[in-house]
Amino acid sequence: MSRRRAGFGSFISLALFLAACSGGTSPSPSTATSGGASAGATTAGEPEDTLTVLCTPQEDWCQAMVAAFQEETGIETSYVRLSSGEAFARLQAGADNPEFSVWWGGPADAFVAANEEGLIEPYDSPNREAIADDQKGADGIWTGVYVGALGFCSNTAVLEELGVEVPTSWDELTAPELEGQVAMAHPASSGTAYTAFYTQVLRLGGEDEAIEFMQELHPNILQYTSSGAAPAEMAGRGEIGVSVVFSHDCVRNIEAGFTDLEVSFPEEGTGYEIGGVALVAGAPEPNAAKMWIDWSLTAEAQEIGATVDSFQLPTNPDAAVPEESVNLDEVNLVDYDFQAAGEAREALTARFEDEVAAKPAE
Ligand code: F6P
Repeated sequence: MSRRRAGFGSFISLALFLAACSGGTSPSPSTATSGGASAGATTAGEPEDTLTVLCTPQEDWCQAMVAAFQEETGIETSYVRLSSGEAFARLQAGADNPEFSVWWGGPADAFVAANEEGLIEPYDSPNREAIADDQKGADGIWTGVYVGALGFCSNTAVLEELGVEVPTSWDELTAPELEGQVAMAHPASSGTAYTAFYTQVLRLGGEDEAIEFMQELHPNILQYTSSGAAPAEMAGRGEIGVSVVFSHDCVRNIEAGFTDLEVSFPEEGTGYEIGGVALVAGAPEPNAAKMWIDWSLTAEAQEIGATVDSFQLPTNPDAAVPEESVNLDEVNLVDYDFQAAGEAREALTARFEDEVAAKPAE
């Protein structure tokens, strides 16, 4: 592991990373096995004996985090893995009787949307100080735990057969040669896909223009998946030529042995995520949840991702960045506004469902 800093000031110079495969959903909480102690600086009171985490990153990362936290604190910890949009819907459904205490991972705009509906509440962790101002929401509402850029993940063998170059612009995705050869997740279920959709709003200058672009792309879409990372696996298996995913999810698949995959970025600008963590409003285990938040902001906790081939950039400047990481200095990032994106989320995803495509069945 190198100690190269991957701070956000230098995020314009994002880094890339490497590795294996994707998500899935745990319908009911999965548990880890125990230990005992504390988790970095905390202002949390006496923790409860149990903690239930709503977890949006890849299943193996959720498992590793839960096991490490339990080992560290002795708190019996379980999680349910759900994509951002599904997680948001589950919080909405449980608003009167929350089943989760903390939400960890997934792009920050979903946290903004959750805050709009009072589904999360502020927690000013003492460990927030280490995180750059542009990687956390105002008033302790959410705090960034990792960063990653959106890109294209192409199967070069499939594209060669089609006589199509690896794409380097959004418009190339709409080429007729790629009919039925592109996959992305659905913005209503996936934070990855919502990032891709909102990126169109930013680069094209309006919601109508973004919808128009998604309509043009639609004939080329073989499938809108629920999970954001799944299309990278489809490309890895050669089922499609191009997937629109966070670049770390492509690299993860390359490391897993899908060597025909190649990462590229749209020259005209791409979106990125700040993966967040937040306290669920009315959390049944508020102190244990605050301890999770404190811990998830430490360098030690943020280095767990790389051990399970999740190569997002840590937000804690002391956390190591894997040496497999590729510097993304060349990547042109749009000026993503997480607050505006989050506020627009409900209405925009409804428009996508009405005007582009319905959400996939579970
Ligand atoms: O862990 C993989 C990952 O791409 C994260 O970087 C991201 O926050 C999350 O999945 C988004 O998942 P989804 O698109 O399924 O909501």
